[in-house]
Amino acid sequence: MKNQKHITVLLHEAIKYLNIKKNGIYIDGTFGGGGHSLNILKHLGKQGKLYSFDQDPYAINIAKKIFDSRFHIIQDKFSNITMHAKNMNIYKKIDGILLDLGPSSMQLFNPQRGFSFRINGPLDMRMNPCHGTSAKQWINTSNQNTIAYILKTLGEEKYAKKIANKIVKIRNIKPINTTQELSAIIQNIVPYNKYKHPARRSFQAIRIFINQELYEIKTFLQQVLNILNSHGKIVIISFHSIEDRIIKKFMIQHSQNVNIPYNLPITENKINQLNIKKIKNIKRIFPSPQEMIQNPRSRSAILRTAQLIE
Ligand SMILES: C[S@@+](CC[C@H](N)C(=O)[O-])C[C@H]1O[C@@H](n2cnc3c(N)ncnc32)[C@H](O)[C@@H]1O
Repeated sequence: MKNQKHITVLLHEAIKYLNIKKNGIYIDGTFGGGGHSLNILKHLGKQGKLYSFDQDPYAINIAKKIFDSRFHIIQDKFSNITMHAKNMNIYKKIDGILLDLGPSSMQLFNPQRGFSFRINGPLDMRMNPCHGTSAKQWINTSNQNTIAYILKTLGEEKYAKKIANKIVKIRNIKPINTTQELSAIIQNIVPYNKYKHPARRSFQAIRIFINQELYEIKTFLQQVLNILNSHGKIVIISFHSIEDRIIKKFMIQHSQNVNIPYNLPITENKINQLNIKKIKNIKRIFPSPQEMIQNPRSRSAILRTAQLIE
């Protein structure tokens, strides 16, 4: 199980919609095992550039084994993208950005990372284990209402209140230290379902919270239209409905004409000066049935893509 290789999801579709120009500048915001990054490099010519990000030091170690002068790896969150784009002098020059959200298989299946409800390990779930609060710290110190709220809103868990109540009762006797301890508490409350493990929703919610995943995507989306060049492409793969809703809303919002209230004393010229950026070619793509069979993890993937209009 340890060091399980990550199978890249929607690889060909992501590359197709990035529509890579030989001498273009690209960003992969989620390097992971490097599946998408390596393929982008294959499509780039000698003058092309790829800047990849990951917050996980283990992913960075994989990236450091790529010796290619066109490739640069940055250890940071993609929410800091503007700062890095400015530092690297690629601000407003970027031809395309890819995000492949969620954890990698290397994170999920390494017991030491504490992400999995199936494999026992220390309860952690941090994508960067050197920073922030671990799931263990959070579950043993947060108040009952906060735990219930997170499980309900980020995991859509029907039994959120009951689970939070039991967590607090148990931790008053002994701290909850491992993934199996937490998973066992949840399994005693949530009825068994043939298709989904009872702890799946709660573990998803805690992971999203610990890594501030919704904050990350929202902050990224606030910046992305400003850092791309005038025809830049956005390709985002997400794996759960809460995240997908945020991306969908963003794309729809930015593809529509600005609604200026009737009678407002503003000329068309002034509207153009506001520099409100728009996007077009919005598409939603799912993995093929064949990919879903070969890689069951891809079943919940949705790729959304769009292009900036000059
Ligand atoms: C699904 S994996 C990417 C897999 C990759 N596309 C491949 O084919 O190998 C997601 C990766 O993004 C990283 N990641 C997730 N959120 C991040 C964020 N906000 N900033 C930087 N890296 C992030 C995770 O650490 C993980 O390594």
